[in-house]
Amino acid sequence: MQSEIAGTGHYLPGQRLTNAMLEQRVETSHDWIVERTGIHERRIAQAGENAASMGMAAAREALQVANLQADDIDLIVVATTSGERAFPSVACEIQAALTENNIPAFDVAAACSGFIFALSVADQYIRSGTYQRVLVIGTDVLSRLCHPDDRNTLVLFGDGAGAAVLQASNKPGIISTHLNSAGEFADLLGVNHVSRTSPEELSEAWMYMKGNEVFKVAVSKLSELVVDTLAENGLVASDLDWLVPHQANMRIIKATAKKLKMPMEQVVTTLEYTGNTSAASVPIALDVAIRDGRIQRGQKLLLEAFGGGFAWGSALIEY
Ligand code: ACO
Repeated sequence: MQSEIAGTGHYLPGQRLTNAMLEQRVETSHDWIVERTGIHERRIAQAGENAASMGMAAAREALQVANLQADDIDLIVVATTSGERAFPSVACEIQAALTENNIPAFDVAAACSGFIFALSVADQYIRSGTYQRVLVIGTDVLSRLCHPDDRNTLVLFGDGAGAAVLQASNKPGIISTHLNSAGEFADLLGVNHVSRTSPEELSEAWMYMKGNEVFKVAVSKLSELVVDTLAENGLVASDLDWLVPHQANMRIIKATAKKLKMPMEQVVTTLEYTGNTSAASVPIALDVAIRDGRIQRGQKLLLEAFGGGFAWGSALIEY
C-alpha cells in the first residue's frame, strides 16, 4: 500500500507586514530585504489567531478538497514549533476541534522542515497498513518568536498554515522521503524554550540566528539532498515537473534550482508575499500551485526544506 495526496489547503492571516512598514521599526530597507531575501511582505497572525487555529483552517480546506469529513481521518500529525503550550500539543487542540473520535494526534518538531518530516511519518503509517487517512498539517507563528528589535530575524518570518490529506492508494503518491539531521549546529539557529529559562532570563527566549552561516550550510546540504533524492530513485532533473522548496530565501531557492538545472519557471515560490512561514512554507507553496492550476495530477514534484536542528529533508511525489 502507498499513500497519495487526496487534498490540500492553506491559511494566511489577513494582516500584511510590508518591507516599508519594517523600515519604520528597525534600521533596514526594502531594497536590502528584497536583494538579500526576495521577500516583499509577510502575513502576521492577529490576537485570537495561533498555530492551532491557522492549522485548523488549512485542514478544513484540505478535507473539503479531498471530499472527506474530519471523522474519516485516522491520525493527525502537526508540524510546528510555535504552539502556545509545550503541551497539550497543537495536534490535540486541532483533534478536539475537528472530531469527537479519539484518534491519535501528535506534533512533530523539525522547525522549517517539519512538514516534510510529518509527511514522512504519515506516509510510513499508511505504507504499514496501520492507517488509511492521515491529516498532515504544517503551522507556525514564528513572527511571535522574533524579538521586535531584531532586524536579522524580523524581516524573514511570517505566519501561516498548510495542510494535506494523505490516503492509502495502490499507486504513488509519495514515491520516497529523505530525512537528515545535524544537531551540532544548534548554536546557529534556535529558540530557547521557557522551560530552561528563569523568569529573569525570559528575554532570552527569542529566536537567535547566525543568518550568514545558516545560509551556507542550507545551500550546501540542500544541493546534496536534491541530487541524492533523484539519484536514489533513478531519476534525472528533467523527469521533474515542479520543485516546491521551503520558502526561506530566494537566493537559497535559486542555488538549489541551479544545482538541478531547473528553470525558475518550474519552481514554486510564495516567499515574495509570505516570507518564511517555517513548517507551513512547503504546504502553502504546494497548495497555491495546485489551486492556480500549475501543478496537475500525474506530475512529479520534489518538495524540500531546511531548518533549525539543523534538520532537512525531501519528498518525491507523483501528484
Ligand atoms: N537590514 C539591513 N541590513 C541588515 C539586516 C537588515 N534586516 N540584517 C543584517 N544586516 C546587515 C548586517 O548587519 C551586515 O552589516 P555589516 O556588513 O555592516 O556587518 C550586512 O547587512 C550583511 O549581513 P549578512 O548577514 O552577511 O547578510 P547576508 O547576505 O548573509 O543576508 C540573511 C542575511 C538574509 C539573513 C541571509 O544570511 C539568510 O537568508 N540566511 C538564511 C537565514 C534563514 O533562512 N534562516 C531560516 C532558515 S531555517 C528556517 O527556515 C527556520
